[in-house]
Amino acid sequence: MENQFKEIIDFIRNLYQKPEGFIPLHAPVFNGNEKKYLEECIDTTFVSSVGKFVDRFEKMVEESTGTKKAVVCVNGTNALHLAMLMLGIEKEDEVITQALTFIATCNAISYIGAHPVFVDVDLDTLGMSPVSLRTFLEENTFQQNNPTTQQQECINKTSGRRIKACVPMHTFGHPCKIDKIVEICKEYHIELIEDAAESMGSFYKGKHTGTFAKIGVLSFNGNKTITTGGGGMLLFQDEELGKYAKHLTTQAKVPHAWEFVHDKIGYNYRMPNINAAIGCAQMEQLPEFLLSKRNIAKQYESFISKLQQLNNSTTKDYGIDFFKEPKDSISNYWLNVIILKNKEERDKFLKYSNENGVMCRPVWQLMNKLVMFKDCQCGDLSNSIWLEERVVNIPSSVN
Ligand SMILES: Cc1ncc(COP(=O)(O)O)c(C=O)c1O
Repeated sequence: MENQFKEIIDFIRNLYQKPEGFIPLHAPVFNGNEKKYLEECIDTTFVSSVGKFVDRFEKMVEESTGTKKAVVCVNGTNALHLAMLMLGIEKEDEVITQALTFIATCNAISYIGAHPVFVDVDLDTLGMSPVSLRTFLEENTFQQNNPTTQQQECINKTSGRRIKACVPMHTFGHPCKIDKIVEICKEYHIELIEDAAESMGSFYKGKHTGTFAKIGVLSFNGNKTITTGGGGMLLFQDEELGKYAKHLTTQAKVPHAWEFVHDKIGYNYRMPNINAAIGCAQMEQLPEFLLSKRNIAKQYESFISKLQQLNNSTTKDYGIDFFKEPKDSISNYWLNVIILKNKEERDKFLKYSNENGVMCRPVWQLMNKLVMFKDCQCGDLSNSIWLEERVVNIPSSVN
């Protein structure tokens, strides 16, 4: 295997035209108007909560994703928190999500005082499996009419708690089978939030990820496809709900020329103008970034397939595979994925690549293994466990 590892690392060095030195997993690129817009913020003193870039950035994301109303937040995690508050998730409710996700999804559930419940992901998308979701709901829940609200609710037979929402995630930018998940959530009277933090620029059946659910969430953290330093965005298909989110993210301040009137418990979750300025410049480059990312993925794909042919082996017994975008999808290929033969090979590859200055990372530890979530209920997690032992992210920057 050492030989194969060397071939892969040499290929990555060649791809990034960096024969020596450190190659990061995902570095941001600022080749556009970032400096110009930042200077404008500083010169005009509009660096904080007021300024034209906030509105402009929201408009650009609305157009690019086909969203009715987009609302910028300080980061993706607080955007998820606000989405949960807005959909009426309460303390002691349960929220279904996938075991294979980044911690932020579960942290946001915990901020509410709700409990995550974990289902499996699909091997062909890496995102929430609709089959696993349906199986869990069929086996573990019943429907009940709430006498106060007259609404149907989904109750967990084991815990007796209400399952209020479901949060699927588009892992590494690859869209999950979100249309099926929308159908299941409707059938079971469960609210849906789409964690599209990693999938800016990814489409499923022609629609941008994050626009299938009542609320979708994007992240613009420094490692994402586009960045604002730190940042997030709420995507709404209901304009009124979007306007309400804007109100909540701005300390629920009622507009007035000088009075301080607040009509709710609000949040200081709104992105400052200075970050939105970077966001506008990054959005101008998004089409170019996406082309470049898809081109990098193509090169990885053809290289791994050549290695497989050279070694005269099928994908399975060659032992290293490249993960390709799922059916019906256009992926942003945020972080490219290779799948190793087993955990031992994965660990050897991680050691070899990182010792040789090429940053590669395993997938996150499954959420149900973390101390905070170890007692949470889980469905069958066979695919998540299989992937956790084999998935490695390889450098994916657009530069
Ligand atoms: C799946 C997922 N959800 C949520 C987040 C949170 O976003 P942020 O880092 O902007 O808070 C991230 C990324 O960082 C993520 O990968």
